[in-house]
Amino acid sequence: MRATWLTDIHLNFLRPLALKAFYERVRREQPDILLVTGDIAEGDSVIRFVQELGAIAPIYFVLGNHDYYRSSIHTVRAAMERLDTTMTWMPACEPLKLTPRTVMLGVDGWGDARCGDLNSTVKLSDWTRIDDFRRAAAVPARLELLQRLGSNEARLLREKLETAPDSENILVLTHVPPFPEACVYDGAQSEPGWLPWFTCIATGEVIAEYARAHPDTQITVLCGHTHGTGTCRPLPNVIVRTGGWPPGVEGYGNPIVQVTLDL
Ligand SMILES: [Fe+2]
Ligand SMILES: [Fe+2]
Repeated sequence: MRATWLTDIHLNFLRPLALKAFYERVRREQPDILLVTGDIAEGDSVIRFVQELGAIAPIYFVLGNHDYYRSSIHTVRAAMERLDTTMTWMPACEPLKLTPRTVMLGVDGWGDARCGDLNSTVKLSDWTRIDDFRRAAAVPARLELLQRLGSNEARLLREKLETAPDSENILVLTHVPPFPEACVYDGAQSEPGWLPWFTCIATGEVIAEYARAHPDTQITVLCGHTHGTGTCRPLPNVIVRTGGWPPGVEGYGNPIVQVTLDL
């Protein structure tokens, strides 16, 4: 099975010809399925782009922080649950037996303010462009919201792992890197000021706990969010691939195919 992985494609930044060219580029991979790890577009356009990608091949995806812009988390997620069956938002779906050896599951993930410098001066657009954050404008309220979002993602991920059928390989789709060492930019780990907003510690803890309890299961995590490319192996049976662009290249407006996996 050819599974083409895309992440942080931010398609709302593309003009029509560039968008058409990108879709052609994806088609050339001859995908059986598309795996998309978030930041597809923004809250008011994400459904359109999911539908257009879904016309290329069945799409399995999670959402990133940008996919909630100009809207609220609840509103966008409610819309995802109403998509038709060729478009699967992984958080709303049971673990999928993708091949006889591979089960796939996914959660969005959230930078959950549990590592790095919590006094960081790095400001995210999330805090003014997502309704939930506008309502939690004071720093303590924002930190509390981020941690709560991370905990919710972790709870959902644990449920999915617990109900996943036994399998040699588990493929986890998520937007936010679940380990600080997977939070990379320009070839290096992100600075402490970025880590709180760019790492989901809570989901990482669930993955690590599951991996230790199932040493014969190989877990592969595909994530994005940082726009920097990297691979790390936080445990012997866990590999995390962070999708992004080579150093010096900006992903907004320049979406690429990360890789086509042969599953
Ligand atoms: Fe992004
Ligand atoms: Fe993101």
